[in-house]
Amino acid sequence: MNVDKGYVDVPVDKSIDLKSEITKLKKEKNAVILAHYYQKGEIQDIADYIGDSLALAQIASTLDNPIIVLCGVHFMGETAKILCPDKKVLVPDMSAGCSLADSCDADDFAAFLKNYPNHTVISYVNTSARVKALTDIVVTSSNARKIVESLPKDAPIVFGPDRNLGNYINSITGRNMVLWNGACHVHEQFSVEKIVELKKQYPGAKVLAHPECKKAVLILADVVGSTAALLKYAVESEEKQFIVATESGILHEMQKKCPGKEFIAAPATDSTCGCNDCNFMKLNTLEKLYNALKYEQPEIMVDPEIAARAVLPIKKMLELSK
Ligand code: 13P
Ligand code: SF4
Repeated sequence: MNVDKGYVDVPVDKSIDLKSEITKLKKEKNAVILAHYYQKGEIQDIADYIGDSLALAQIASTLDNPIIVLCGVHFMGETAKILCPDKKVLVPDMSAGCSLADSCDADDFAAFLKNYPNHTVISYVNTSARVKALTDIVVTSSNARKIVESLPKDAPIVFGPDRNLGNYINSITGRNMVLWNGACHVHEQFSVEKIVELKKQYPGAKVLAHPECKKAVLILADVVGSTAALLKYAVESEEKQFIVATESGILHEMQKKCPGKEFIAAPATDSTCGCNDCNFMKLNTLEKLYNALKYEQPEIMVDPEIAARAVLPIKKMLELSK
């Protein structure tokens, strides 16, 4: 099977009903579909489970299905494979990378860590398996605060790779973690000026921001949290309008769960670039998902030696998140 482009490159018959064929294949093969909130709406709608990075890892660790299709980016598939080495883990388009994970090369990170002996190494889940293998505890944006606070107040910590999340956690916990200088190209793009303008236009709106955003955006925010935390706030809040500074895919579930509320995507600095869409997340399509299930490709593979080391900090995170 040709997966040179990162996905099964076989034309899909235009006359078939993709959604019902995907459901049929899923039943036949006892497969399960997990999707991140940043996936296209049609993929979220067909998934068995949708969630943020933490939820997807937690769900993957409990599943019995022999095939897991992870509709998200490569590191999410890798995390599922590390947790479920005996299962087939498919990602519809393997070239769905992550600029944040790419901002932390494992060899460079290993060299950096040599400067900080005796430090606890905390890595965001948005990292490669090789970086996780160098890590003591993995975190996501949902549990980073709780996990950092579980360590003694004076514990020396290296935190990577997201400098914005790291700075934010330092500011709310009073820690002074050493930070790796990485970032996500989507979350760094939100424009402070345009959010201020929007606030004037929608004076009652609450600003919801993901901690991967720059400090200047987080200062403007009423709520800072992971995608799941922002969704929960929107559902439970009495407010009716929200300016959302994270990847635009989350608006699909927000709007679905709160039909009477209005969600406004925070604009990026360059409004012509569509930067609040993660181009990697949006590489997965229903056609690629259908082919992935049909041909059981492309499959995520992780070097067993790396996986044996990387699983420890992921399991530690799951343990500390209970
Ligand atoms: P969460 O899923 O933890 O909110 O992280 C967002 C993200 O950028 C995933 O790639
Ligand atoms: Fe990576 Fe940013 Fe895309 Fe999330 S939104 S997958 S952090 S590039």
